[in-house]
Amino acid sequence: THKIIIDTDPGQDDAIALLLAAASPELELLGVTTVAGNVPLPLTTRNARTVLELAGRRDVPVCAGAAAPLDEALVTAEHVHGKTGLDGITLPEPSLPLDPRHAADFIVQTLREHAPGSVTLCPLGPLTNIALALRRAPDIAARIQRIVLMGGGFFEGGNITPAAEFNFYVDPQAAHEVFSSGVPITMAPLDVTHRVLTTRARVEVIRALGTRVGTTVAAWMDFYERFDIAKYGSDGAPLHDPCVIAWLLRPELFKGRDCNVRIEVASPLTRGMSVVDWWQVSGLPTNALVLREVDDAGFFALLTERLQRL
Ligand code: BDR
Ligand code: CA
Repeated sequence: THKIIIDTDPGQDDAIALLLAAASPELELLGVTTVAGNVPLPLTTRNARTVLELAGRRDVPVCAGAAAPLDEALVTAEHVHGKTGLDGITLPEPSLPLDPRHAADFIVQTLREHAPGSVTLCPLGPLTNIALALRRAPDIAARIQRIVLMGGGFFEGGNITPAAEFNFYVDPQAAHEVFSSGVPITMAPLDVTHRVLTTRARVEVIRALGTRVGTTVAAWMDFYERFDIAKYGSDGAPLHDPCVIAWLLRPELFKGRDCNVRIEVASPLTRGMSVVDWWQVSGLPTNALVLREVDDAGFFALLTERLQRL
């Protein structure tokens, strides 16, 4: 089993990642921390609480974190996720209380409370909270087992600018600090998440679960699809963030390579670009396992089986 903290900006795909984690007995969900990203912080925080309640996981603490990136003005993605961040279905206002701790403090405290090397961080949004935690307590770097994150894109290009993926673009400085931290990283970039598509047939299988969770996830996928089908001309939308949780559960579904990865912070043209040394031409040490291939049918079988448990 893995002890994990999920740092997130829900977002329909974040929400599905939370459900996948909440449903998986191999994962001990120590807490959920929220960050501004897809929508502003009050909404991502409310959405995280709503999703945990939907999953029946009122036992998991939720801590709000950064309302803005380290050095930049916040850029949001309502054009993808809708005004609430979770458009597609109206869910009840959550009653799950918010833990008063700041996300970065929760991360530091939790890492110090557990044995070194026993806690994995799973960031699904801009990396602001993780960078803040590392700034506040540099000693935690040595205590983190691994950071498994969704972000970046190399062969696939960007989705918010030609060069950059959204999470790294929103807070490039935070991404840079995380990739320079010495903590082992697994990176699920667009190269792999763009292969995991919510096709009509897959959405109908999930809807046919007939449960509240199944109906909700299908409604999110219906909404979230609208944007991506038009944009990419693909059969369904990419299910980015659940790749992080799926890798923890079934790493054999993915193929990747250990690489050196650096993040562009200076250039306005390529702000937030992840520069992946796939061919090892830089001679720089590897700092991330970069995923590039996925068994998408296996991924959806896993997701469906887990959602059924909720
Ligand atoms: C990432 O950006 C967000 O819109 C998604 O939730 C995902 O984390 C994809 O670029
Ligand atoms: Ca996200």
